[in-house]
Amino acid sequence: MIMETKNDVGDLAIFGGAPAFQEYLHVGRPNIGNRERLLERINDLLDRGRLTNNGPYVQEFEQRLASMLGVNHCIAVCNATVALEIAIRALGLSGEVIIPSMTFIATAHALQWQEIPPVFCDIDPQTHNIDPSRVEELITPRTSGIIGVHLWGRPCDIEALDDIARRRNLKLLYDAAHAFGCTYKGRMIGNFGDAEVFSFHATKFFNSLEGGAVVTNDDNLAAKIRLMKNFGFSGYDNVIYIGTNGKMNEVSAAMGLTSLESLGEFVAVNYRHYKQYQQELAGIPGVSLTTYDGNEKNNYQYIILEIDETETQVSRDQLVEILRAENVLARRYFYPGCHQMEPYRSYYPHTGLLLPETEKLVQRVLSLPTGTAVGPVEVSQICQIIRTVVVNGEEVCWRLRNQMLSLKFPIKSNLLITTVKES
Ligand SMILES: Cc1ncc(COP(=O)(O)O)c(C=O)c1O
Repeated sequence: MIMETKNDVGDLAIFGGAPAFQEYLHVGRPNIGNRERLLERINDLLDRGRLTNNGPYVQEFEQRLASMLGVNHCIAVCNATVALEIAIRALGLSGEVIIPSMTFIATAHALQWQEIPPVFCDIDPQTHNIDPSRVEELITPRTSGIIGVHLWGRPCDIEALDDIARRRNLKLLYDAAHAFGCTYKGRMIGNFGDAEVFSFHATKFFNSLEGGAVVTNDDNLAAKIRLMKNFGFSGYDNVIYIGTNGKMNEVSAAMGLTSLESLGEFVAVNYRHYKQYQQELAGIPGVSLTTYDGNEKNNYQYIILEIDETETQVSRDQLVEILRAENVLARRYFYPGCHQMEPYRSYYPHTGLLLPETEKLVQRVLSLPTGTAVGPVEVSQICQIIRTVVVNGEEVCWRLRNQMLSLKFPIKSNLLITTVKES
């Protein structure tokens, strides 16, 4: 990959320089573990002729995850969205459920899909997670539960949410899509609330192509979820419950098992990139990198910047555009917030008024590439672009404005000639 220097504003691709990268750098490019081992497993399952329906790889995957997390039950599912839907149903949630708006849309959709309206709660701007002090004021007689989301793998304030759920007799589910391999007070995420849901989608640091799991220490709940993910079948020809098809297939489980063998390496790569971003972005005014608690385990999959436009001059959206021109596909996770997306925007048009911190944060955050698809050279180059943009914020803004104006009102050459002739 040929690198371009980006020390001056004129070097930036948005102003005509060559893009820093010839190929796109994505956020969430998949980590692929040991390819030979994966292909061996796929060959095995093809030889066995067992492609799905609780095959041996799915069973092994579930056992390994349960023992790694120290939970009694792990139920592998085809993806986290379906896992959330099943967990919501198995917990008997109904009426209203309180969730943060600062999450991927699947958290809200998993409820609304079952005609349970999500009630959006504001976040704590320090942690980006649901603010327990705002939860209680949203509880009504219709509220049946809370879904906390461990955003960026940073655990929610679990003690506070537990306390509310216990006192108000509510179910507590965690969307732990980001938090596989993370801990809260030294204990693995997966052990909290009534149940927790992981995503093993290809963009997650640990993937099974598509996939997810519900984990719980509740025996009855686990039994219900097992039935529900398999149409409610209890043995041949005997359906005892309403269910769906949430089964994980054997190829996904083979990928999951293979990824599991490289888990330590994936985290180590992410951690190295995180430390490098931290070092090379240090001191850039108005740019802050989300921190992780060094006393807890984290997967460091999310390189999240907060852009304070009053200091950078350049807005978050302008920075995203500038990075895109360099082929760095930075993402605005989770802009504009679930409450600003359909159908929620139409259902509850004024919700934003109750979510001031969410509304602020969605304008400020951006996510940068990490994982095994990038190396230290790429990370350095991305940091250099950001530094050049912010250090020259005023000039960059001025140039962007002029560029916009010239696109909106292009100077016609014959108009110029006329003007010259007249003068
Ligand atoms: C917070 C959150 N919840 C749920 C999901 C849905 O996961 P899946 O793609 O496995 O359905 C995602 C996926 O990105 C997510 O980020």
